[in-house]
Amino acid sequence: MGAITFYEKERIFQLDTPKSTYVIGIVDEENFVGHVYYGKKIKDGRVGYLLRTAEAPFVPSKNNGERVSFLDSFPMEYPGNGLGDYRRSSIAVRTQGGHAAVALSYVSHKIYPGKPALPGLPATFGDAESCETLELLCEDGVLGLKVTLLYTAFTDVDVITRSVRIENQGEALYLTKALSFSMDMDNRDFSLLTLHGSWGRERMMERRRVGHGFMGVESVRGESSHQDHPFMALEAEGAGQSSGEVYGIHFVYSGNFIGQAELNQFDKVRVSMGIHPENFCWKLERGESFQTPEVVLTYSDTGYEGMTHNLHDLYRSHLIRSPYKDKKRPILINNWEATYFDFDTEKLLAIARQASKLGIEMLVMDDGWFGHRNDDTSSLGDWYVNEEKLKGGLKYLVDEVNKLGMKFGIWFEPEMISPDSKLYREHPDWALAVPGRTGSLCRNQYVLDLTRREVLEHTYESVAKILRSANIEYVKWDMNRQLTDIGSLGLPADRQGEIYHRYVLAVYELQERLVTEFPQLLLENCSGGGARFDPGMLYYSPQIWCSDDTDAIERLKIQEGTALIYPLSTMGAHISDCPNHTVGRVTLFETRGHVALAGTFGYELDITKIPEEDVKQIPAQVEMYHKYNDLVRGGDYYRLASYAGNHMYDCWELVSKDKTEALVTFVQVLGRPNYKSRRILLKGLDADKYYRIEGLDGVYAGDTLMYAGILVENPWGDFQSRLYHLTEVLN
Ligand code: DGJ
Repeated sequence: MGAITFYEKERIFQLDTPKSTYVIGIVDEENFVGHVYYGKKIKDGRVGYLLRTAEAPFVPSKNNGERVSFLDSFPMEYPGNGLGDYRRSSIAVRTQGGHAAVALSYVSHKIYPGKPALPGLPATFGDAESCETLELLCEDGVLGLKVTLLYTAFTDVDVITRSVRIENQGEALYLTKALSFSMDMDNRDFSLLTLHGSWGRERMMERRRVGHGFMGVESVRGESSHQDHPFMALEAEGAGQSSGEVYGIHFVYSGNFIGQAELNQFDKVRVSMGIHPENFCWKLERGESFQTPEVVLTYSDTGYEGMTHNLHDLYRSHLIRSPYKDKKRPILINNWEATYFDFDTEKLLAIARQASKLGIEMLVMDDGWFGHRNDDTSSLGDWYVNEEKLKGGLKYLVDEVNKLGMKFGIWFEPEMISPDSKLYREHPDWALAVPGRTGSLCRNQYVLDLTRREVLEHTYESVAKILRSANIEYVKWDMNRQLTDIGSLGLPADRQGEIYHRYVLAVYELQERLVTEFPQLLLENCSGGGARFDPGMLYYSPQIWCSDDTDAIERLKIQEGTALIYPLSTMGAHISDCPNHTVGRVTLFETRGHVALAGTFGYELDITKIPEEDVKQIPAQVEMYHKYNDLVRGGDYYRLASYAGNHMYDCWELVSKDKTEALVTFVQVLGRPNYKSRRILLKGLDADKYYRIEGLDGVYAGDTLMYAGILVENPWGDFQSRLYHLTEVLN
């Protein structure tokens, strides 16, 4: 049997992953598509009786007098709008007649191995061996709308993905809402875990009990944002870090989104996610179609730990495509916190010379190398080299860096335009703008109207031309403001509601072209830190700058929230100088190294100016990175303690897939008087294996380490850290 089974007589679809099952039922003569079950794997999915359809006159075909009661309680897989289901709909329209109603019924289905790509969109992928897809074709006969619900069940990871294709075969209409997924479940005293933040403190975890009414997360900022994250986890009563039932819901998209949970009068919870309907209005002419982005669903009966492992495995194997995805990334040194805008060739080469001697492998030149940009008030859009700063030009600098045995990387912010730029003087209409309104500046810049073909082409060429001009092996693609002034001269009045989504599609197109023309390029996305850290961007870049806050202690919380759903190999993390530029804290250089080790690892400081005792530690840190990075990138991640929760210390562990090796990082944040040691229970080891811990005497059994633990001798001072490296001992 494949991953997807259709029970024809019962009209049931059963989707199986290794440890979970998802069941959909077709009900009544009207062919309603109902959600029956999602949870722990069951052998036989013929549980349609749970939909109560046997209780005629419950169904409307037998009792139309109670149609509204039916629609308002039936667990619809993709709820329509305006006809009796008073909960949140997934799709809504505006017809020529001005009506909003949609009702969908099942027509036919297809089941096939593998997974289709989603045109123009990032999405998870899999071959015939690793997944199977179900397409449920539904229809609204009145509108002439064909709606295909796409489901893929993975056979190597506990994940089901969903998206929707909407095709108009009737009169032209406007889609005013097109979510990617909805699911109705019986409430099990669910709580909702979401991630929130701001600049410099992204992805802080927050839990709320699901109550009556609705709650959720959203962004209407044109990007996934610092503030909210396109992710929700539903946690059943009693679930925790390593036990209990958790449902993870994650959106593979980088623009406006909404994720919601709604508890109704019958103690049912409807969860849904998709493009935010606010300011969304997409015209569909007859024959046109709209593809929603994809939602990833994962079920875990081993708490958040299982959810984290599922998402990490999915993204590592079925989303990230870069040639670097399974490779060590070059250890980089970035000059942003080292020099900000104040640099020239000589300064950069001085940094590179010193860095290369210490084992650092790549110099990244950040903001300020183009136009006449000496601060953030000018030149975005003028992507030509400032030869006053870079005497001899870019190629000379790159060649000199290469001669030192280092790679060279460069910063761009391609989506933006400064009013003080040659580009703006030539094309003032290329910025997003609402006619008659003064545009809102943010960091002194406007957003380019990438929905216009000529703007997109120009933007691509500006970046590509620079990359073609020298041996540039890495790009940091930044985006330092959120969208406003949603208006495009390239679109007619009735398509202005498409701008937010078209903008995101344009960013995807640009990045797709970039990684196609430069297939060996290491691309790192960034948005004022981590405002566009989402699965959509991971499809194009294997790593994303996590946050502009590089303080090791603040990073504990940021990296915990990020690693909850993203593999450590994706988290841009650097060692910076102290006092930290964001919070002014002074931490040990060693601790900063241990924290950055949990991400991509690099430096962001002026290596020619930092204290000699810090410089001396760099070769050992470089060695540490090379020694542990395979484990950090490919291992299973376990959260052993959370500073965000206990306010005292943080601890995480990585275990190799074959359980022969593990690395535990412990960070003491606040010392506690008269408390000299702490017992830490390890996780994920093989109970029957024996391990040696580097630097300690003796051999420890896996079960001892997991159930009895290790003793961390509490460091005396704040902000100290310890690494414990475990390797299997064979008898
Ligand atoms: C925001 C990024 O997050 C920083 O690392 C840096 O590249 C600045 N932008 C440059 O303007």
